[in-house]
Amino acid sequence: MKKISAWFRIILLSIIIHSASASDSDPLQDYCVPRPDLSPIFLACKNSSLVTVEDFVFSGIKSAGDSKKTGFSSIPVTAAVFPGLNTLGVSFVRADFEVGGVNVPHYHPRATEVAFVVEGKIYSGFVDSKNRVFAKVLEKGDVMVFPRGLLHFQMNVGNSRASIIGSFNSQNPGLVKIPSAVFGSGIMEGVLEKGFGLNAKELSKLRKKFSS
Ligand SMILES: *[C@@H]1O[C@H](CO)[C@@H](O)[C@H](O)[C@H]1NC(C)=O
Repeated sequence: MKKISAWFRIILLSIIIHSASASDSDPLQDYCVPRPDLSPIFLACKNSSLVTVEDFVFSGIKSAGDSKKTGFSSIPVTAAVFPGLNTLGVSFVRADFEVGGVNVPHYHPRATEVAFVVEGKIYSGFVDSKNRVFAKVLEKGDVMVFPRGLLHFQMNVGNSRASIIGSFNSQNPGLVKIPSAVFGSGIMEGVLEKGFGLNAKELSKLRKKFSS
């Protein structure tokens, strides 16, 4: 009995260590195209005899998404919109920048991102947990990595449109945009006024701007 429980503890520990060091877990089968009537989270796969090549092809990023006030648009391609990615631990994004367009400081809680510059000149960078900034102007063909969970940002500093393709080691990397997470989320005024050294009027302006 004692022996069994010792083994059990070792196995449990190794499961915990593995799940802490991996990103998404390894798939247990070739693929799991989710049943369209269920959320991918339940991992109920379509009967493989009903799966076709179309489940593994995504055609939704041939052109740029709708540009926002910041002159930036992005189309995240996660398992939620591309079911063939389900359980495979990867996803990607197409992002387009008008001249001067900005991808505001943000982070992905569950994935490291590798971004490839398809077109344009993009000032890109991230900040590590000691507040050190690693940033430079990337040109067409350059690739930059943004480590998992670290704040990063981009701006088109060229004089033509720019675009990137980012890939993630998670099928659902998550996206936390700092301006809207801080000022658009309904955190109590006192916290933000004191935390950012703002008066009530300044805070109200920022709240209006970043509430969706
Ligand atoms: C999958 O579909 C095939 C062919 O229609 C059928 O024979 C098989 O029983 C199905 N498998 C499951 C698990 O439903």
